[in-house]
Amino acid sequence: MRFFEAPRIHAERKESSKVRKPLTDLPLATHDLPQTALNSKHVVRAVRLTKAYGDLTVLKGVDLEVERGEVVAIVGASGAGKSTLLHLLGTLDRPDSGQVCIAGEQVSDLPKTRLDAFRNRSIGFVFQAHHLLAEFSALENVMIPGLIAARPETQVRERAKALLGQLGLFARLDHKPGQLSGGEQQRVAVARALLNEPDVILADEPSGNLDSDHSRELHQLFFKLREQFGQTFVIVTHNPDLAAMADRKLVMVDGRMAP
Ligand SMILES: Nc1ncnc2c1ncn2[C@@H]1O[C@H](COP(=O)(O)OP(=O)(O)OP(=O)(O)O)[C@@H](O)[C@H]1O
Ligand SMILES: [Mg+2]
Repeated sequence: MRFFEAPRIHAERKESSKVRKPLTDLPLATHDLPQTALNSKHVVRAVRLTKAYGDLTVLKGVDLEVERGEVVAIVGASGAGKSTLLHLLGTLDRPDSGQVCIAGEQVSDLPKTRLDAFRNRSIGFVFQAHHLLAEFSALENVMIPGLIAARPETQVRERAKALLGQLGLFARLDHKPGQLSGGEQQRVAVARALLNEPDVILADEPSGNLDSDHSRELHQLFFKLREQFGQTFVIVTHNPDLAAMADRKLVMVDGRMAP
């Protein structure tokens, strides 16, 4: 079984065209993104982000650019602002100043209603507390982003099954989260993050509560997804092995990216 449909930009390539266009010039089939998104090689672009909680300034002007297909690790001491940054990139919170651009979309310009839809389509989250819904099966949990995006249920179900199968969970489709191991739950969360073919996956200590074998498996999975599908990742981690595997390792120190 194929993992999932080839990336849209490949699928949409015009065969009749003599000159092969750069992939970034081609239209996306399912994302409603402006042309700027397609011309930008940066999937993530954050410019001079600041964020304070009361008197505590947590982000003091963070810049970040991540190219399509890149795996970037962010490390740093506890309290340095890593999760706060990821929340801003994930449009779960707004910066006090600065800009966040995801796939060319300036997210601060989006009204709340469009922002929710944009987030659901464009951003996949793999957080340590994976927020699987306890009442729903593994399969149903993975399907949720597709159903929210109002995609046809049969198509969403097939894709969710294919993803779970690819992640070694085909025999666990009907298990509720409480009937899965920690590593299995984390893989369900990864499948859910992938369902809508997001532009970027944001992972916050994704292997934080896994043993070393399961951590290694999860890390290898990220790189396999990058190799096969060009998936872009921004991963906050305290795991030195994972940070060393990344294309780039950025260090946050007290609300800033270390030079
Ligand atoms: N909602 C909030 N209200 C007040 N302070 C907050 C809030 N969220 C985070 N902080 C503070 O901001 C600082 C940065 O938090 P953040 O969660 O970004 O750190 P982190 O780098 O992810 O740390 P860790 O490695 O421990 O997860 C911390 O000192 C934290 O106490
Ligand atoms: Mg954190």
